[in-house]
Amino acid sequence: MQTIIEPFRIKMTEALPITRRSDREINLAAAGHNVFLLDADAVTIDLLTDSGTGAMSDRQWAAMLEGDESYAGSRSWRRFEKTVREITNFRHIFPTHQGRAAERILAATRLRTGDIVPNNGHFDTTRANIEYVGAEAINLPSPESQDLYSETRFKGNMDVAALERLLAREGRRRIPFCMITVTNNTGGGQPVSLDNMRRVKRILDKHGVPLIIDACRFAENAFFIREHEAGYSGTSLLDIAREMFSLADGATMSAKKDGLANIGGFLACNDDSWAVDFRNLLILTEGFPTYGGLAGRDLEAIAVGLMEALEADYQRYRHATVEYVAAALVARGAPIVRPAGGHAIFLDAAAFCPHLKASDFPGVGLVNALFIEGGVRAVELGSVMFGTRAPDGAEIAAPHELVRLAFPRRVYTQSHFDYVIEVIDQVFRARASIPAYRIVEQAPFLRHFTARFMPI
Ligand code: F0G
Repeated sequence: MQTIIEPFRIKMTEALPITRRSDREINLAAAGHNVFLLDADAVTIDLLTDSGTGAMSDRQWAAMLEGDESYAGSRSWRRFEKTVREITNFRHIFPTHQGRAAERILAATRLRTGDIVPNNGHFDTTRANIEYVGAEAINLPSPESQDLYSETRFKGNMDVAALERLLAREGRRRIPFCMITVTNNTGGGQPVSLDNMRRVKRILDKHGVPLIIDACRFAENAFFIREHEAGYSGTSLLDIAREMFSLADGATMSAKKDGLANIGGFLACNDDSWAVDFRNLLILTEGFPTYGGLAGRDLEAIAVGLMEALEADYQRYRHATVEYVAAALVARGAPIVRPAGGHAIFLDAAAFCPHLKASDFPGVGLVNALFIEGGVRAVELGSVMFGTRAPDGAEIAAPHELVRLAFPRRVYTQSHFDYVIEVIDQVFRARASIPAYRIVEQAPFLRHFTARFMPI
């Protein structure tokens, strides 16, 4: 059959707020024209993030009832550890309450002021945790990723030549570890090939620098490898994931993405002395090493979810959904980053609103127009989120003005996405009327969460 269907049926429903344009206008103005400050009850289709917003399966809910809430050595921990080891084969595994807790423990125990951590694309919490301990987070994205519209596969790859130059200059002294993020979220959700990971590992081995995978979307990355990398079309997603992790010395994970859970994460490594430091800080800040800030039932949900994320039918449906929306938008002429990512569509707000300059925050204008038009919540990834300030206080624009529509896992059906396509299409036709925005109030860092805006 040509039609790829949702490989599940619906057993429980949650009502969606159907709102009127006049209500949306009032609500957005009350939220300072910042969709982060809206009540979720005012949002019809919420594509703010794919993190922790997925629907759990009946098997996950059933496993939760079996949660063992013993403080130490619980059955649920054993099940979680066994599953994570089956996929990653790491010697030491530590549960954490979410991805950034794993990042914080890694950064606090391994980095000193002046150190450097290269990555194909640091997520903002990874960068913030590295910078918090005085180290520098460097992005080394592949040159192909700079062209938003090229159809090249594996645009999430790391720039191997740039990594080689960095290591030749700095050696291992200032680089305690290197990271690779699969898929590269801030780079459009683009995947990393196994070939690229092998090249990165070879260079790092020459210098004795360990490799840590930011594994949030490891299963989506594995599916891209199976579909598009030579030699993997017949390989199971579990075996591809195993091969990815076999190239690494450790991993940080947010189970809120490819763990198909609403909360949770882990930190893993092979090195025994790293594990001692991780364990000590974990006990201090997250909890005893057999629960790490999670309930036993959360550990159960994650153990089941990690394996469900590796089911080929599930990934085929998920990627088909993203590609379906992408193809419809391309057909209507709306400018989006190509190829479509694994978890989201990225609109190019600069091309969408050619009448606006970066200092007019076209991403904010587009996000707000999508909300007013149809109650769809997206997120700006442009000069509000990634803009910087010159020493004289002048704004420096981000390299791209993007708007992300992230797809929660197993939550919305095809008709929900048909509605989203229609909303984007309407906004695209009326794009000349999208206004510029000015910031009227902002915090000194991570301003996108709380800033208030004014349309002009
Ligand atoms: N790494 C990547 C690549 C991420 O996308 C995220 C979270 C994290 C680490 C941190 O994990 O939220 O569990 O602490 N990304 C979410 C997003 C928030 O919307 O993209 P966390």
